[in-house]
Amino acid sequence: MADEKKPVETTGHQWDDDEGYPLKEYNNPLPKWWLYTFYATIVWAVIYWVFFPAWPTLSGFTKGTLGWSQYKQLDEEIATAKAAQKPFDDQLAKMSLKEISQDPRLLQYAISGGKAVFGDNCAPCHGSGGIGAKGFPTLVDDDWLYGGSLAAIHETIDSGRTGAMPAHLEAHDGSFNTAQVENLTDYVLSLSNQPHDAAQAFKGKALFNGEAGCNGCHGDLGNGSLKGTMEGEALEASVGAPNLTDGIWLYGGSRKAINQSIAKGRNGKMPAWGSGFEGFGRKLDPLSIKEVSLYVHTLSGGSF
Ligand code: HEC
Ligand code: HEC
Repeated sequence: MADEKKPVETTGHQWDDDEGYPLKEYNNPLPKWWLYTFYATIVWAVIYWVFFPAWPTLSGFTKGTLGWSQYKQLDEEIATAKAAQKPFDDQLAKMSLKEISQDPRLLQYAISGGKAVFGDNCAPCHGSGGIGAKGFPTLVDDDWLYGGSLAAIHETIDSGRTGAMPAHLEAHDGSFNTAQVENLTDYVLSLSNQPHDAAQAFKGKALFNGEAGCNGCHGDLGNGSLKGTMEGEALEASVGAPNLTDGIWLYGGSRKAINQSIAKGRNGKMPAWGSGFEGFGRKLDPLSIKEVSLYVHTLSGGSF
């Protein structure tokens, strides 16, 4: 009969058990579709070896007749990406910072470029994301030495800045003795509402706005060259004298750190990356400087 089953092929292995049900190993042929797929993968592998890099050899590897390599592919992809960026870059180069800041799409593009520039060049000093460190100002707050407008930030990055806080102690070529520097320290502590000796701070205040001339840079109220005034006159903003009243410190707000700032002076240096380039790091092209300026501006939540 047609539906009579063929006897099952076995491999000849057989395990007997006590109850008389022997365990046999069948030998079923593989399904045809599986077998042909298997042959196809072998053929594919051989074709692949011929055309693509495949086998390691003593001196390298078989390169394949197509000459394809991951590096070449990467180079091509980078070239394609660069070509796609070109129209944006050309547009950015022509526009002012203000114009870019008013075009959300271009601004987004510029900021992501600026972020990369920042990571490569600025993060070693200012920390990743501009968080700052002792002597290296944080760029994520709205407290600026030289100004947080787009123009001021651009100027800082393009031309560099040097903070010139003179030394005041006699031992460091200043004109004041230890007691006077102590008095000034107490006055600065009082400006930021920290514990201080009131009598000494009183004397310090007289020095600050008198003989020592601190107010010429930090202002009569000690609130820095950006916001401060001396006898009603605005101060020179590019001096970069910090606000001493806000509890944000470049070199530390402890009695000891403040004393050191006054006694020995401080000269933080922000290198120039553009027109003022002096050989520190690598000079950045004008477009990169624009992009990183816009990036820094957004870090502080800068409004446009
Ligand atoms: C070698 C360390 C160093 C590197 C690298 C560096 N900076 Fe600076 N930067 C400084 C110092 C120090 C200051 C503060 C200068 C001062 O004390 O007057 C500063 C100040 C600034 C300021 C002014 C902050 C304010 O409050 O006004 C900006 C903006 C700035 N840097 C951005 C950058 C950008 C963008 C880069 C990368 C292109 C960069 N910096 C790379 C050290 C560095
Ligand atoms: C010529 C301008 C100038 C004069 C005068 C001056 N300062 Fe400064 N001061 C600065 C600048 C600029 C800085 C920031 C230095 C830097 O960026 O490295 C600074 C920094 C400081 C700091 C450190 C602030 C911080 O955030 O860590 C203190 C404290 C200070 N000055 C107090 C004084 C006192 C007190 C006097 C007077 C005895 C004085 N300064 C006189 C310009 C001046």
